[in-house]
Amino acid sequence: MNVSDERTVSLWATVKAAPDAVPLMENDQADVIVIGAGIAGLSVAYEFAMCGQKVAVIDRGEIGSGMTARTTAHLSSICDDYFSQLIELRGRELARQFYQSQSAAIDRIEAIQKSEGIACDFRRVDGFLFPSSGAEDASLERELDAALQIGVAVEKIVGLPFVEFSAAPALRYGRQATFHPLKYLRGLATSICARGGRLYCDTVVEKVEEAEDGVRVSTSSGLSVTGRWAVVATNSPINDRVAIHTKQAPYRTYAMSFEIDRGVVPDGLYWDMEDPYHYVRLQPGEGASDFLLVGGEDHKTGAVDDAERRFAALTAWIKRLVPNLGAETHRWSGQVMEAIDYTGFIGRNPGNERVFVITGDSGEGMTHGVVASILIRDLILKGSSPWRDLYEPSRKTTGAIVDYLVENATAVKNFAEYVAPGEVDSVDKLQPGQGAIVREGLTKVAAFRAEDGTLYKRSASCTHIGCHVHWNSLERCWDCPCHGSHFAVDGTALNGPAVSPLADL
Ligand SMILES: Cc1cc2nc3c(=O)[nH]c(=O)nc-3n(C[C@H](O)[C@H](O)[C@H](O)COP(=O)(O)OP(=O)(O)OC[C@H]3O[C@@H](n4cnc5c(N)ncnc54)[C@H](O)[C@@H]3O)c2cc1C
Ligand code: FES
Repeated sequence: MNVSDERTVSLWATVKAAPDAVPLMENDQADVIVIGAGIAGLSVAYEFAMCGQKVAVIDRGEIGSGMTARTTAHLSSICDDYFSQLIELRGRELARQFYQSQSAAIDRIEAIQKSEGIACDFRRVDGFLFPSSGAEDASLERELDAALQIGVAVEKIVGLPFVEFSAAPALRYGRQATFHPLKYLRGLATSICARGGRLYCDTVVEKVEEAEDGVRVSTSSGLSVTGRWAVVATNSPINDRVAIHTKQAPYRTYAMSFEIDRGVVPDGLYWDMEDPYHYVRLQPGEGASDFLLVGGEDHKTGAVDDAERRFAALTAWIKRLVPNLGAETHRWSGQVMEAIDYTGFIGRNPGNERVFVITGDSGEGMTHGVVASILIRDLILKGSSPWRDLYEPSRKTTGAIVDYLVENATAVKNFAEYVAPGEVDSVDKLQPGQGAIVREGLTKVAAFRAEDGTLYKRSASCTHIGCHVHWNSLERCWDCPCHGSHFAVDGTALNGPAVSPLADL
């Protein structure tokens, strides 16, 4: 095990988006500097490169190795928090814009993969929402009514291609899509480089500063890139201490893939109405066999450490729907950022003119990232976008105040953990492969014992704003419940907003 990685790997892991990328070796200059090379960052870079702008993309790891390498890649224009709730909170017009912008993102992916000749298994498919417990027909009707109010292409149907569901009600949404996310990113990366863009891997950005006529992006090696505009696409923003982080919450989410004979399940996106919810789709495989991708069972980051139970629940769910399933091939987890008012934060970073931010992707980050590429391109090059207010990062949504208070109570409760006892009373009690919080005098220690006996001891205080980290035994990393940072057992920051490692003791 590499102590600087999260442990699980997804179905996409064999495809590299830009294997030839190199770290930043000297100071550089660009029109647009993009920090983060996932679907959001590479889509932004592509749009600007297409408009003749000089772009530089910087990532702390491999290109395309963040949450985009852990997605299940449903490309959906449907609000996964329900249009009925979105309309209630933000009104009919903004809900309509949500649907239109997310649909435009799918159209944009379709157009790019076609014009750039990217072989990424892109398919237009129908999406299906269904009550898998069989009891929520009233909710389905409410959602149908809401979707029709804002012009969604939807109809109610009876019967799904799953055992026990031949008479189940469902909503069918047209013009959804799916693809292989890493093959798509590889195509984007090639197109960006072909237009003079530069991709820097293994380069940690520490600071994004704005001056009157430009920006400076500084890295941990001491080198920097200067430019006219910066776009922070690190999934959880590294440049923002609190403003946006109080309006979203990190959730751990789980996925699995299984072999399945071709033709057993028709191609489509299927998701249920349970809480936490579950979803399934197909991915083409070799020969006569495809993959069935199953996901869900989300929980607030750090709230529990019970991945085995989550995978067992996903397996039981899919086996009820599709009993003749093949062997399991992969199981993995990742994180999504849930915005309190159901739409991401895309636009000027609060307080900045030249720095832009993309976050709050929810379970729809693949389309959100592409919405961001269109929106930010238009804000910078045209001066406006019809979707600006919907995704405005500095917005306040009064109806979401209860969720705002609940999310911030997580941080308050978390700080109380500093005075609680440790999970084990001495590092001597740690078994090989085990991590736990240990109290040593007044200090809380994040301790991990490797299989070879090596003991890693780091401060349990998150380097973002000091919340108390929690052990994640599946990924063998430390998760911060407050705003979503992850740290390797050697303390390395794996996921923002933290940039610095957990302190040595
Ligand atoms: C299991 C799972 C299933 C999902 N299923 C779906 C789905 O079906 N449909 C959907 O739309 N969405 C889905 N999502 C969500 C979606 O995958 C993500 O929202 C999306 O991939 C996020 O893209 P991104 O570009 O914002 O972030 P990322 O892909 O995480 O990219 C951010 C990049 O920033 C880099 N970075 C971070 N800090 C720094 C720094 N200091 N310096 C330099 N670089 C830095 C990271 O290394 C990373 O590569 C799923 C997510 C998970 C985990
Ligand atoms: S992520 Fe903000 S305190 Fe840890």
